[in-house]
Amino acid sequence: MAGARVSVEHLTRAFGQATVIDDVSFTVEPGETVGLTGASGSGKTTLLQLIGSLDQPTHGTIKVDDFDVTHLRHPARFRLETVGFVFQLHHLLPELNAQQNVELPLLAARLSRRERARRSQEVLGEVGLGDRLKAQPADLSGGERQRVAIARALAGRPKLILADEPTGALDSRSSEHVWTLLAGVVAEHGTTMIVASHDPALADRTNRTLNLVDGRLVANGERLDVREAVQ
Ligand SMILES: Nc1ncnc2c1ncn2[C@@H]1O[C@H](COP(=O)(O)OP(=O)(O)O)[C@@H](O)[C@H]1O
Ligand SMILES: [Mg+2]
Repeated sequence: MAGARVSVEHLTRAFGQATVIDDVSFTVEPGETVGLTGASGSGKTTLLQLIGSLDQPTHGTIKVDDFDVTHLRHPARFRLETVGFVFQLHHLLPELNAQQNVELPLLAARLSRRERARRSQEVLGEVGLGDRLKAQPADLSGGERQRVAIARALAGRPKLILADEPTGALDSRSSEHVWTLLAGVVAEHGTTMIVASHDPALADRTNRTLNLVDGRLVANGERLDVREAVQ
């Protein structure tokens, strides 16, 4: 499955007086992996949430393929069918096992129970946890839990993965594993990925990086010319 094209134009998000995303424009081509860097508070999470339709901009447009993300009639369906989220914390439900956690977002899709089971087993296999389907989160290591969370993000076969500091809570060995895994799945499926991270490994794992400073995109300390950034 091909990845989505993401096109962000003149995006602004203000909370009261604070402009957290300030006239940001860029395009991500299908299948590209783009890193998002910037100090804490620079707007990385806000930007990812806007692209994933978890938040609404004050101004500007975001297109994911043909969808205008800022005017969706069915945002939940868009998220389910197009976007996979990976967060810093895994957000697994402790009372559900690995397979049930992965199946959870699929409950809203019109899939049979059998298809849900098949799909969740497939993606858990992809993240190397095919033999831990029934394990509870408490019985998994931190790295394994994040791999379950990645499997959950992959379960809907998204065209776009939005990852927010996916290795931020992991030790270096688990981080390495998660980076390799994410790189492998996007290469395998041609998925587009935008990944925010402080991890120095980010540059090696992405086609290019976008740097946010106080909600603005900058390159080499200079504010990016919006026309250049849009390409
Ligand atoms: N819901 C909100 N209400 C008010 N301010 C917010 C809200 N969400 C984020 N912010 C502010 O926006 C800025 C950017 O936050 P965030 O996107 O989380 O940055 P990052 O992910 O780069 O650390 C911060 O100053 C934060 O306090
Ligand atoms: Mg953040």
